[in-house]
Amino acid sequence: MVNIAECKPGQVCRADALNRSRVIGQKGITLWMTGLSGSGKTTIAEALERRLLYKLGKNVFRIDGDNLRTGLTKDLGFSPDDRAESVRRASHVAALFSEAGVITMVTLISPYRKDRDAARALHEKQAPPPRSGIPFMEVFMDVPLSVVQARDPKGLYKKVAKGLIKGFTGVDAPYEAPRHTPPHTAAPLHAELTLKNSELPVEQCVDQLVMALTAAGALS
Ligand code: PPS
Ligand code: MG
Repeated sequence: MVNIAECKPGQVCRADALNRSRVIGQKGITLWMTGLSGSGKTTIAEALERRLLYKLGKNVFRIDGDNLRTGLTKDLGFSPDDRAESVRRASHVAALFSEAGVITMVTLISPYRKDRDAARALHEKQAPPPRSGIPFMEVFMDVPLSVVQARDPKGLYKKVAKGLIKGFTGVDAPYEAPRHTPPHTAAPLHAELTLKNSELPVEQCVDQLVMALTAAGALS
């Protein structure tokens, strides 16, 4: 490994993740935030983004399902295969951002465990040895269906109840909740962090995320 201090003109210095993080003073990580529609994925990610950017001066970016669906995943619907493809595309984009040293939040319902595990596996494979993969953390927005139905920020659950939307996650399409696995625990692979945000104010959820990022070495 060439030390950046030794990287002089004419010398071959690899622009790998380790050297990049030394130069920019930040390590990338993907925070994969999963949960029902209305569970607070976007709200909490926005609050975390503000904390990291404005209070801690970190380069952070959000990849939101709703936004992707206007472009990169515009051709996809909500069948199991389409949701798997949507997660696959988002995970590739997230891995690239994270490899570039950005703290990357993905806010997608991502209801199927196998798709989330594939996103994690992709991060592990993306950076071959001697690197040990791109850091990946699954965060479960653990909010009961009754609560998200009462919140109903987009009026979608009302439409579902009237039969205007079919195949809605948690109602007539599955949501496979992650089980909580503390960090550094051997497989099975599930969420490293569970946020019961119906019981906690947004800023306390952000505190927990900042603690998890610190423990993962992403803020040092
Ligand atoms: S998924 O399951 O990961 O493919 O979903 P995602 O790409 O995150 O898109 C979820 C948003 O799409 C809206 N929506 C639906 N959600 C779930 N099921 C069905 N059938 C559906 N139809 C539309 C909804 O606004 C979701 O936004 P969020 O931010 O999760 O509330
Ligand atoms: Mg959202």
